[in-house]
This record gives sequence, structure tokens and C-alpha cells, in this order.
Amino acid sequence: ALISMRQMLDHAAEHGYGVPAFNVNNLEQMRAIMMAADQTDSPVIVQASAGARKYAGAPFLRHLILAAIEEFPHIPVVMHQDHGTSPDVCQRSIQLGFSSVMMDGSLRADGKTPSDWDYNVAVTRRTVEMAHACGVSVEGELGCLGSLETGQAGEEDGVGAEGTLSHDQLLTDPDEAAEFVKLTGVDALAIACGTSHGAYKFTRPPTGDILAIDRIKAIHERIPDTHLVMHGSSSVPQEWLAIINEYGGEIPETYGVPVEQIQEGIKHGVRKVNIDTDLRLASTGAIRRFLAHNKAEFDPRKYLNETIKAMADICVARYEAFGTAGNA
Ligand code: G3H
Ligand code: 13P
Ligand code: NA
Ligand code: ZN
Repeated sequence: ALISMRQMLDHAAEHGYGVPAFNVNNLEQMRAIMMAADQTDSPVIVQASAGARKYAGAPFLRHLILAAIEEFPHIPVVMHQDHGTSPDVCQRSIQLGFSSVMMDGSLRADGKTPSDWDYNVAVTRRTVEMAHACGVSVEGELGCLGSLETGQAGEEDGVGAEGTLSHDQLLTDPDEAAEFVKLTGVDALAIACGTSHGAYKFTRPPTGDILAIDRIKAIHERIPDTHLVMHGSSSVPQEWLAIINEYGGEIPETYGVPVEQIQEGIKHGVRKVNIDTDLRLASTGAIRRFLAHNKAEFDPRKYLNETIKAMADICVARYEAFGTAGNA
């Protein structure tokens, strides 16, 4: 059944678990996520970005998600719009039937330029008024995602700030978070705590607290009723990088967010954990490996089925690690 994000994350908060929010662009991703949720009895958040709408088209995405709900009626599903760049974009998603939207007012409508406080509050508040009137939940964002090491936003062609960010922008301030929630009424807040979008998060193997766990804790103490969201939460599995490179890929050394760090975040109020890159890597690795071993094969269903299995394995692992399993 389709439910709102508020409903799903309230249950997660009450029982102390987190929910991975997987990006979806095509049938294979959708099927992998639902198979894994079915197998582990997990609730599902699927999210569509602007890039996904451009790739698949909004009606196809909508019906892909509705098809998942029809085939798996026993699994609660949140249909979330990822990184909305304006209240208008959010309104169109609400009209399409999404049960949750993100108004990312941390960036201007170009999706690149860091915005200011008044802009962020204004666009987010306007979105909340509209969404809540329709029973739709809203995620806002305060702070800018980027590496605490380099100040770089990470992703070059996707969502994210351009240029170098200051330390202040890279860590959400707890007092500002409290004020922002009071002024906007968001259900969930994406915070900056050391993660960044894309595959290039850390140049060295991360050890210890590479995220600002104390900051997450401080924010959660100030706004315990607002669900915290961690974007840029792919773990960049080294085994998939190795497979991609073994079969002709050339991905340089890079590291993601260790699952244990996400688990620490979940202990301190993180309820929604955004993952896109990990499924992309698994999918690409599975195709490269299959085609290298099956050189005469040309039926796309053969290699695409490999991607479904590879992605579903990652989904299962995250549902189990985040405590989502058993809560559908
Ligand atoms: O937050 C960004 C997501 O990874 C979506 O990426 O805009 O390439 O679909 P995309
Ligand atoms: P990753 O690039 O770490 O998978 O993050 C995805 C994300 O935050 C989508 O909003
Ligand atoms: Na989002
Ligand atoms: Zn994101």
C-alpha cells in the first residue's frame, strides 16, 4: 500500500530503525528493491530524481511504482520525489500521486548554487503548506553536502553544490535546524554531516568516525520529532569496484560511507538513508561480468536479470543492517 513518509518514519522512530531510500529509474531497480523487501519483510521508500524523470518520463515512473504496489500489496511503499528544485516541481509530483516530496532549498533552483536562509525557508514553507493539504510529507535540507576533507560536493554532473564549500556549510547547525523546522513544519530534514553524493566520497579507506556523529546527535536532541535524512549514503562496495575493473572498467580508487557509520547515525535519529550509487555500481559490475563470460549472448533479459540479482543482494544487506527487516 502507498503510505506517507511521515507514517513510515514515525514507526521507524518508535522502533529505532532506519529505512534505505533507493533511487529508481527503471524496471530492474524497482524489481530488485521489491524482491529484497519481500524477502526481508521490509517497508520501502523509492525515490525518483529529476534525472529519473528525464530518463524514464514521469508517467512511466509513476506506473512503475504503482505496479510495484499492485504486485506486492502487503509491503508499505513511500513514493518520494528526490531533490525537488522548486515548489512547482514538488506540486507536479504531488499531482502525479507521490506520497512524499523533497524540497531541496539548500540550493537555488539551478540545483547548483548554495542558497540563503530566507530563500530556503520560503520555498520549503510554501511546499509544506501545499503538500500537507494533500496528506503528502515533506523533506527539507539545511546545509550543503560535501566532503569534510576537501570541501567538494562530489558529484560533478548530478545534484550538488558547485565549487568549494566552507566548513560552516558542510555541517548543519543544531540551533538553525530547530529554527528551520519551527518555521517550515517539515516532516524530515536532510542534514550535512560529512557525506556527499556519488562514488567519490573518500580518497582513503575510512576509519573511525568519518561522519560528524556528535553533530547528528546534537541535531537529534534539538529536533527529536523531525526525522533526520542522510543523503550520499552509498558505501561504494569494494567488491563491485573490483569486478567492474576486472572486466574492463577503469574506476579509480575510492571509498564510500561504511555501513557501521550509518548504523551510528540511525542510533541518533537518522531514519531515511539515501542510496543510489551502490545499485549503479552493482548493476554495471553484473553486466560487465556477464557479457565477458557470455560473449555470444545478446538477449538483454539475460544480463539485466544479473543486475536485478546484484542490486537485490545490496538491498537485502541494507534492510538487514539498518534494522528495516521485519517491519513491513
Ligand atoms: O541525489 C542524487 C541522486 O543520486 C540522483 O542522481 O540526478 O543522476 O538521477 P541523478
Ligand atoms: P549516493 O550517491 O551516495 O548513492 O547518494 C544518493 C542520494 O543521496 C540521492 O538523493
Ligand atoms: Na530525498
Ligand atoms: Zn541526495
